[in-house]
Amino acid sequence: MSTAAHTSKSPRQLYNIAKTLGVWDPAKIDLTEDKAHWQMLNPDQREQLIKTCALFYEGEVSVSDTLAWFMLAMPDLDRRMFLSTQIFEEVKHAEFFERYFQEVCGKVDTSAYLVPEYKGVLLDELRQRGEAIGQALTSGKGDLPLALTLFACHYMAVVEGTMALTGYEFFEDLLAKTGMFPRLLEGIKLIRSDEGRHLVHGMDFLREQLVKYPEHVGPVRELFNTQAANIPRRTDFVFTPNPLGLDRERIQQISYANHNQRMREAGLE
Ligand SMILES: [Fe+2]
Ligand SMILES: [Fe+2]
Repeated sequence: MSTAAHTSKSPRQLYNIAKTLGVWDPAKIDLTEDKAHWQMLNPDQREQLIKTCALFYEGEVSVSDTLAWFMLAMPDLDRRMFLSTQIFEEVKHAEFFERYFQEVCGKVDTSAYLVPEYKGVLLDELRQRGEAIGQALTSGKGDLPLALTLFACHYMAVVEGTMALTGYEFFEDLLAKTGMFPRLLEGIKLIRSDEGRHLVHGMDFLREQLVKYPEHVGPVRELFNTQAANIPRRTDFVFTPNPLGLDRERIQQISYANHNQRMREAGLE
């Protein structure tokens, strides 16, 4: 189920935890077992697994690239310290999937899976939110606090706190049903534990912003609503077709549950 964001850890505490737990090495995960399992899948099953991994890979690269704007503009030193660990961790998450493709699935054009319902939220719109921070920061014009709030909502509440958290369930379900791909799940568990810190920090920042700037509540609510409306189409893309036989309804329910939980954590419900 979804990972709850706890408010008990300060940015400095999360930074200290990241120095110990965030240093696992994707290059040290032995993928031999998964390689053998890959050979046992038929082409349609391979396609469904590649599709999900490709979206994760593209998402991880995109978040690594855009997070620097957020860190640069963050007024609080402890939060900047924590965000430096988050950038490093996002890069490692992308590295894990890059390596998985190289060693298990073979050569894959991951960008081919960026259909509009994923490319917008994962790449184009996220980049625009990063650039809005950059413009406000460098020109002194524009609303920097609002740019930070919307970036946190988009990145932490939607991409990490709804889409990625739901995606992990796809892999858990795959292992539970087939007993295959244990090393993929090992990587996912390590990624998920890093993401728990990202989420705690991000949702804490978002909640704090909404208390400080009540005028941000409207735009944030609108962003949440727009993204909730996209959930069925995004689920369809991963499950049409569904040769691995995973549970589409369960995943969609988890997606809505994650979405609602993030809204509650932001103080909106
Ligand atoms: Fe990540
Ligand atoms: Fe993350």
